[in-house]
Amino acid sequence: MTAPGSHYFDEDPTAPSAPRDVTLLLPDGSLTLTTDRGVFGYDRIDAGTKLLLLKAPAPPATGDVLDLGCGYGPIALTLARRAPGATVWAVDVNERARGLCAANAARNELTNVRVCAPDDVPPDVRFAAIWSNPAIRIGKSALHEMLLRWLGRLVPGGEAVLVVHKHLGSDSLQTWLTNRNLPAIRLASSAGYRILRVASAIDAASDGL
Ligand SMILES: C[S@@+](CC[C@H](N)C(=O)[O-])C[C@H]1O[C@@H](n2cnc3c(N)ncnc32)[C@H](O)[C@@H]1O
Repeated sequence: MTAPGSHYFDEDPTAPSAPRDVTLLLPDGSLTLTTDRGVFGYDRIDAGTKLLLLKAPAPPATGDVLDLGCGYGPIALTLARRAPGATVWAVDVNERARGLCAANAARNELTNVRVCAPDDVPPDVRFAAIWSNPAIRIGKSALHEMLLRWLGRLVPGGEAVLVVHKHLGSDSLQTWLTNRNLPAIRLASSAGYRILRVASAIDAASDGL
């Protein structure tokens, strides 16, 4: 829930704070997380996020991995729990979301999470994996710019896993990515959500795709 005229992707949400707990139940473990108004997923764990966490392949055990648009942290913290030897970068433009994500990492004793604004990720960091429920509602051109910025930082052999609803353009996004030398395949589909697996452009180039 956000205040009238405000969005979950605002940098500084104006909705009065009303924190509440949600429980993320997965077959391999659960997390209790605090969310808040002005942040995506106030009422419950988003169904697309849950599907991504159920269908994504195991993350790399080491290296740097990214949750692009971490919100209050369900994806970043699951990555951190599944890959305790990796460094999880949890990135969001929304300051309230970043505060919640950092507090949720501490609450769940996950010490391998670095929460920051997009421009604060050191430019030399490259990602072995990117998992994201991307902010489709920022608009197509901002979305495309954001995806190209971060998918271009995958290491060779790295891959991204994205969840997008078909009503929010998952199928055209899959085609758009593939046409940008970022081959995207559909890994899973449920209740209108598509899980897209995207290879790094470097791999596509070396495979002659
Ligand atoms: C669909 S929500 C997903 C949040 C969280 N990962 C989850 O699954 O509940 C997308 C998130 O991306 C953030 N966001 C919007 N634009 C962004 C950008 N340019 N860079 C990073 N994050 C962004 C939003 O603030 C929002 O928290």
